[in-house]
Amino acid sequence: MTDALVARARDVMARAHAPYSRFPVGAAIEALDGTVFVGCNVENASYGLTICAERVAVGAAVAGGARRFRRIAVTTQVEPPGPPCGACRQVLAEFGLDLEVIAAGPQSERRWALQALLPDAFTRESLG
Ligand code: THU
Repeated sequence: MTDALVARARDVMARAHAPYSRFPVGAAIEALDGTVFVGCNVENASYGLTICAERVAVGAAVAGGARRFRRIAVTTQVEPPGPPCGACRQVLAEFGLDLEVIAAGPQSERRWALQALLPDAFTRESLG
């Protein structure tokens, strides 16, 4: 059975605005109370302004009042599914390194603790 969180990420992947890379990404982040917030990548003709799906989902969650999360699912159409980019790892780390990260492609899934994807993270403690 497909995890409901992965299903939410797959659904929103269809809304990706990715005319330049043709690499749609969907993300669904689950708050501790079970609420799910979603995001897709939003590209721009000025390529560097592109926003990843994970960061769109985090923005939606924070705007929706959630700051503590249990899991994030990220979906793509390729195998093997890749982990979040470095910038997104850092943005996710802001809200806790014990997050479970699930990457799902059409056939397979991979799972990590965010801590393993971003060891020795720069956090608020790093600010002294
Ligand atoms: N992308 C994401 O949405 N999340 C990632 O973690 C990696 C990359 C998007 C950005 C761009 O729109 C496309 O995938 C190709 O890099």
